[in-house]
Amino acid sequence: MLVYEGDACIGWCQFGSPAELPNIKNVKAYEKDVTELPAWRIGCIFTTGRQRGRGVARAAVDAALHEIAAAGGGIVEAYPEQVDGRAPQRGAYFHTGPETLFADLGFTRDRRIAKWRWVMRRTVVP
Ligand SMILES: CC(C)(COP(=O)(O)OP(=O)(O)OC[C@H]1O[C@@H](n2cnc3c(N)ncnc32)[C@H](O)[C@@H]1OP(=O)(O)O)[C@@H](O)C(=O)NCCC(=O)NCCS
Repeated sequence: MLVYEGDACIGWCQFGSPAELPNIKNVKAYEKDVTELPAWRIGCIFTTGRQRGRGVARAAVDAALHEIAAAGGGIVEAYPEQVDGRAPQRGAYFHTGPETLFADLGFTRDRRIAKWRWVMRRTVVP
């Protein structure tokens, strides 16, 4: 999902099936406790430097969720970084997204797969 301002692409949200996106971070920890693969994964998000803090990533993830609904919906996983309870982190560190963004969009924690990274899940209705 690409986000444009005029002709310029200023951000994206990568999403796809587990078969399309097999290379998630912390895959060994992920696979240790996996019971059911999701229908969809959100892999990474990016907003170009000067456009950060304006809701671009939020718009990208929200639009990706709409596309997922249009494509049949189902369980969606994201693998974001915990924000609360730790020192502030630069945006550069959040390539799988900040947990707060996914919590705002209805995702809940499923399990921890690294010190600061969680599997979060949400069901998207078609
Ligand atoms: C993480 C990143 C995508 C955020 O993009 P953004 O467009 O600035 O994010 P938004 O403005 O949509 O923010 C949405 C929410 O995310 C959270 N958030 C964003 N940046 C954050 C930061 N640095 N620290 C903590 N929370 C943050 C906030 O909850 C924010 O909601 P709020 O503004 O209501 O508080 C951006 O900093 C980035 O691109 N970082 C580099 C990631 C990267 O290298 N990706 C490569 C992927 S292959």
